[in-house]
Amino acid sequence: MSRIVSLQAELKATPRTWLVTGCAGFIGSNLIEALLKLDQRVVGLDNFATGFQANLDEVRSLVSAEQWARFSFIEGDIRDPDTCRAAMQVDGQSVDHVLHQAALGSVPRSIEDPIATNAANITGHLNMLVAAKDAEVRSFVYAASSSTYGDHPALPKVEECIGKPLSPYAVTKVVNEMYADVFARTYNFKATGLRYFNVFGKRQNPNGAYAAVIPKWAGAMLQDETLFINGDGETSRDFCYIANAVQANLLAATAEDVAQGEVYNVAVSGRTTLNQLFEYLRNGLAEQGVSYTQDPTYRDFRAGDVRHSQADITKAARLLGYAPSHTIVDGIGEAMPWYLNYFRQ
Ligand SMILES: NC(=O)c1ccc[n+]([C@@H]2O[C@H](COP(=O)([O-])OP(=O)(O)OC[C@H]3O[C@@H](n4cnc5c(N)ncnc54)[C@H](O)[C@@H]3O)[C@@H](O)[C@H]2O)c1
Repeated sequence: MSRIVSLQAELKATPRTWLVTGCAGFIGSNLIEALLKLDQRVVGLDNFATGFQANLDEVRSLVSAEQWARFSFIEGDIRDPDTCRAAMQVDGQSVDHVLHQAALGSVPRSIEDPIATNAANITGHLNMLVAAKDAEVRSFVYAASSSTYGDHPALPKVEECIGKPLSPYAVTKVVNEMYADVFARTYNFKATGLRYFNVFGKRQNPNGAYAAVIPKWAGAMLQDETLFINGDGETSRDFCYIANAVQANLLAATAEDVAQGEVYNVAVSGRTTLNQLFEYLRNGLAEQGVSYTQDPTYRDFRAGDVRHSQADITKAARLLGYAPSHTIVDGIGEAMPWYLNYFRQ
């Protein structure tokens, strides 16, 4: 039996208390959905900077009333140390596991406003580490990023070989790892980083200037708008479906002590160019009975973007028992009805 299957059974039998920061966002809301469906007690913290009440409402509609009753929400900001401290206790119950997802994502946003990105991503992360250490939680997992590989040319990316960061956002994610490392050395408090590679799936915001490529393109196709490719379309990414990221979080939070305090790539070890992605999305839509006949428009490369990104996932497989359940095409197939519903409502 795979580790995730036995872990799910174990969690159902013996529920624990989880704190998910960024719970109104894309990854956070998928984490709380998965945890509630496993009958866990969940505390969510979010300030709605980029998250939505609608995401929480959707989760509520997907779990039973009994499961939803095990969820408590704190509207608050991780830039405030007292809020982080208060979130470690709920209804007299101590938090066992922290899944820290709250941050301001997006490379372009960080180029436009590095101060805001720094405050949420570095000060907020530090506040969370201090609060979790003081509360003596059983484990702490945080959202790291493939942007940490920066200008290092090697492919596939292995955890030990990182280059120089290419954006203020990447700096914040490198610093998150440095703080985690220093907390292990100085306080013997282990925090485990998951370097996500282009995660996608339901509830990822398709709107706004900082939208990620998959929801943005799905939206453009569904609204029959012109779609833009930055560069020549041969830029490649290791797109990771949300179910794989959820699996990695559960495995990391409950891993044995030797596997804690490490950083892990979370992806599928695939390599998809933007030109291929365009075709996958067009095919995914066609399967839903929607045809998109326009060709993409090519424009300049975007500042701060790396050319290629592909993960080596052997470390997560070896130490966490991580085995991605979805390829990019599987994920697009599963996510497409959500986009359809979102744009056709
Ligand atoms: N989506 C990806 O492909 C990807 C890739 C690499 C890393 N990550 C990281 O994963 C995490 C989650 O990303 P996501 O894609 O779900 O983004 P998201 O924007 O959908 O979710 C982030 C959530 O954090 C909340 N938040 C932001 N600042 C906050 C603050 N100061 N206090 C409390 N809450 C705050 C937002 O309101 C939002 O709900 C982030 O740390 C991001 O950097 C994501």
